[in-house]
Amino acid sequence: MDPFELALQHLNRLNPRLVVWIEKHLRKIPAVQQKIEADTTALMAEVLPALKPYADRFETVAEIPDQGEPRDRVLATMNDLKRRETQRWQDGYASGAVYHGDPDHIAFLNRVYALNSQANPLHADLWPSITKFEAEIVAMTADMLGARPTADPVCGTLSSGGTESILLAMKTYRDRAREEKGIRRPEMIVPVTAHAAFDKAAAYCGMKMVKIPVDRNFRADVAAAARAINRRTVVLVGSAPSFPHGMVDPIAELSELARARGTGFHTDACLGGFILPWAAELGYAVPPFDFRLPGVTSMSADTHKYGYAAKGTSVVLYRTPELRRYQYFTIADWPGGLYFSPSFAGSRPGALSAACWAAMVSIGKDGYRQATRHILETAAEIKKGIRQIPELYILGNPLWVIAFASASLDIYRIMDAMGHKGWSLNGLHRPNCVHLCVTLRHTQTGVAQRFLEDLRAAVEEVKQAPDTEGGMAPVYGMAANLPLRGVVGDILKAYMDALYRL
Ligand SMILES: Cc1ncc(COP(=O)(O)O)c(C=O)c1O
Repeated sequence: MDPFELALQHLNRLNPRLVVWIEKHLRKIPAVQQKIEADTTALMAEVLPALKPYADRFETVAEIPDQGEPRDRVLATMNDLKRRETQRWQDGYASGAVYHGDPDHIAFLNRVYALNSQANPLHADLWPSITKFEAEIVAMTADMLGARPTADPVCGTLSSGGTESILLAMKTYRDRAREEKGIRRPEMIVPVTAHAAFDKAAAYCGMKMVKIPVDRNFRADVAAAARAINRRTVVLVGSAPSFPHGMVDPIAELSELARARGTGFHTDACLGGFILPWAAELGYAVPPFDFRLPGVTSMSADTHKYGYAAKGTSVVLYRTPELRRYQYFTIADWPGGLYFSPSFAGSRPGALSAACWAAMVSIGKDGYRQATRHILETAAEIKKGIRQIPELYILGNPLWVIAFASASLDIYRIMDAMGHKGWSLNGLHRPNCVHLCVTLRHTQTGVAQRFLEDLRAAVEEVKQAPDTEGGMAPVYGMAANLPLRGVVGDILKAYMDALYRL
């Protein structure tokens, strides 16, 4: 790294806002802008081939064909593509991504989807079955997450995924604060390890995001939260567990603090909502995190992760129907008629709600408990194996989302070496580390052992050749350490442009 970058990095630790200011002015210099553009183009040229593997193997369709393709040819193309992509996740090479993946389970969900593919809950009169499914998904999730089955008014809605559940909850707090307390510049307090969806919510909803640090165990700092609360705070957030390090924040303390200070508290259990209740029943040490805590006023829990539904559903829950109402949208004077919708989308895929309901009722409590047992036992084996590799250490003390780092080797090189062996792990930063989110795919015979063997080999390879050129490691290293965050943001935008390139 050149001395200028080192100086910026140091300055970034002391005063990040000053670095943002410097960056803004630096980028007005044409030579600097040209260099950034040239570097971005070079980087894209390196990553593009991996992004577009079909560019020269399949016909590119940029215009609706004059004559429709025969269905069997369309299906043949689909099957060809599917064959190329299934094996990797099916064999457990991915972190997270596919949480169940058993072919029989998938076939069952596909049948349910096919039965309901035309359903749209926006038309509750045409498809009351979907309304029934959605109400029951919400009720089952609330019951699992500590709502007392009969007495409690805990309620919620379905959404398209964890991010939408979080966006909806944050919008709800913003609107309630505006309506009931006249707060015009709402603030949310969020641990640095909370999911990026909260940053997105702040950006979309025009809210100020106040970040609080985490402790040595990657759990939110309660004292910092207490200091951050002010009269504009509308919600405090905790993760159960967090995406990066799989640690459960001190939800009891944080939610109590929120209650005492008269603000909302959201538990983001997108990742853990369908694992932690069963883990607790199985005797694992699970700190309280759900509606059993009086200060928890909302939660997000993803049915499309460990609820084992098809991709595209999540549940957002509220302590009371009064709070949920701030999520809803209604318009009474639109020429198109009386319009209302509970979430961001208008029309929604009823088939996904049906498949979600089918997953939940067919798996049952016993199925979820067994799945959790397998996942946690596999995770324990993997953690034990990682701890036996002297060059690696695990961050915090997670149950099944295992982040690991190295004091002596470049962890991103290890991630690259694992990539060459087929593994798709998540690269994280601040601090630089990599994680494996254990799913049912990893509980198949031999997968954990293969992961550990490959990891040991990857560490050896990097030890032997620590300065190998190429791969994604330099990109990750640069993205993790570069103090000019605007530049990193621009690179990510160029990447998204590339996704839509033919
Ligand atoms: C803790 C947590 N919250 C929110 C999300 C966002 O979920 P989605 O990708 O379904 O939008 C994730 C995704 O991994 C997560 O781990």
